[in-house]
Amino acid sequence: MCGIIGYTGNKNVTSVILKGLKNLEYRGYDSAGIAVLDNKKIFISKFKGRISDLENSLKKIKIKSQIGLGHTRWATHGEPSKKNAHPHTDCFGKIALVHNGIIENHDKLRKELKEKGCKFKSETDTEVIAHLISKFYKKSLRKALIKTLKKLKGSYALAIINTDNPEKLLTARCDSPLIIGKGKNENFIASDAPAILEHTKKVIYLKDYQVAEISKNKVEVFNFKNKKIPYKVNTLAYDKESAEKKGYKHYMLKEIYEQPKILSTLFAQYLTPSGRTKFTNLNLKRDFLKNIKKITIVACGTAYHAGLVGKYIIESLTDIPVEVDLSSEFRYRNPIIKKKSLFIAISQSGETADTLAAIRKIKQHNVKILSICNVLGSSLTRESNSIIYTHAGPEIGVASTKAYTAQLMVLYLLTLHLATLKNILDKTKLKKIISSLKKIPHLQKQILRNDKKIKNIAKRHLHFGAFLYLGRNINFPTALEGALKLKEISYIPAEGYAAGEMKHGPIALIDEYRAVVCIANNSLIYEKMVSNIREILARRGKIVVIATKGNKNIKKYVKEIIYIPKIENLFSPLLVTVTLQLFAYYIAQIKGYDVDKPRNLAKSVTVE
Ligand code: G6P
Repeated sequence: MCGIIGYTGNKNVTSVILKGLKNLEYRGYDSAGIAVLDNKKIFISKFKGRISDLENSLKKIKIKSQIGLGHTRWATHGEPSKKNAHPHTDCFGKIALVHNGIIENHDKLRKELKEKGCKFKSETDTEVIAHLISKFYKKSLRKALIKTLKKLKGSYALAIINTDNPEKLLTARCDSPLIIGKGKNENFIASDAPAILEHTKKVIYLKDYQVAEISKNKVEVFNFKNKKIPYKVNTLAYDKESAEKKGYKHYMLKEIYEQPKILSTLFAQYLTPSGRTKFTNLNLKRDFLKNIKKITIVACGTAYHAGLVGKYIIESLTDIPVEVDLSSEFRYRNPIIKKKSLFIAISQSGETADTLAAIRKIKQHNVKILSICNVLGSSLTRESNSIIYTHAGPEIGVASTKAYTAQLMVLYLLTLHLATLKNILDKTKLKKIISSLKKIPHLQKQILRNDKKIKNIAKRHLHFGAFLYLGRNINFPTALEGALKLKEISYIPAEGYAAGEMKHGPIALIDEYRAVVCIANNSLIYEKMVSNIREILARRGKIVVIATKGNKNIKKYVKEIIYIPKIENLFSPLLVTVTLQLFAYYIAQIKGYDVDKPRNLAKSVTVE
């Protein structure tokens, strides 16, 4: 949520910041702003709306500057508007800052500052930070910042400029993502790598309760005691091209199409040539893995649905019971945590506030945390005992697609790893499963080649005011994910349900105005799905069915059929999901929505 960038160097500051902001726009996009230091004065421009509006306004203005910062906002305190857009300043216009996070005690601080004469210009929680720094500022801005941070409750990633120190950017973090990019005669601050990738791959991950002072040739990191501390410079693994659209109309479509390749990459990463699983950096003892008595999975959004599929996979191939929880629920409940438990956190970004809070809670119980994550060096990976990367490359579309199927594949492979260690799977069965999994990329390609057909079905259904998605067993979570994709990007109310529960409620909704997507691939419970289909037809619901190629019987009931290639039910989510992603994409695209940046959403939810 919210993207921040800071730059100091010899390049055109506004263009570096604007480009960086565009690459961070997936984090929030209701307003944007920039502040640069020009001749010891702070120049600020901010707008409600997209970064392109800000860009147009800046075209007419000539600014000579070597230092500045920018922000793209996802509103928390105060509606999206010019006055609430960042950067925010102190009363004298000497300090400007951008912030990602939430200051929970801002009401109290605002009241105190107002009593001391501060004039507030916005409704944001952020503005108190600028006024507080100004109040504490005597000789050292860094000291004033540290004093301020000690007063704050909540989360923050900050970038600050100040007229008295025109060569320095200041930054600090607590529970919100932040990296410092190190270049040649230039340095950066950013919420996330895409903002600076085209300039540098050398980054410092600032830790919680650290402050940094950055000039174009120097980066210094301090703790809250104002003591200089050493830092490590890391090299980012991904390149600029992987974050580009490559001729696709939207990132989401490109990312849907990337899925077969990503799954093949995962085989190369986590399987030996002889077809055994290899998780060389698992960092968990064999003995511990062999004796796991329970697995708890926590995640949010799409990653939570991956966790739900994970439960079916793990429980059908090992003897380990699995519990899956939404991170936001887990963090406030009283979980029963027993010895010999493994805790898995799933997250594309590795920065989701609730998931981080959930693992911090579990850490107090001395339980091992394995994270399945896409972003190298993210907070989640730094705080876990063990990491399995999903290697899906940067996911830019706000609605998650390729990260999801990569998470699923990691869960399949991890399950095989555990089952083999526990001696539950014999060689023949393991071989058979791996051979099925290896077919998936090829089968996904077949679905992608069929995308015109899916587009046509989408065209015929986009006028429906509401959708119900039904699935059973391992495809119950697939139904949840399909419905989530549709509502995220097309704003059509869509609900996912376990088909067996249809009679306990959703059936009341069915009439000729309700479209129902039924996942009825070949499986042991296929006939049960057919019964559901007949019940929907009896109430004149309009059905789109996902069925297995070769199933002619289904044509008796339904005209709108999307066929998926033949595969065992256990692996079918990897195919059904792709069809549902395309279906949602085309409905939203034909309706003319901004698929990559759906309203009110943000890719990385770094606030609670
Ligand atoms: C946001 C995104 C979703 C994502 C969820 C969890 O809501 O829009 O696409 O599934 O956060 O994010 P994570 O990065 O933890 O997977």
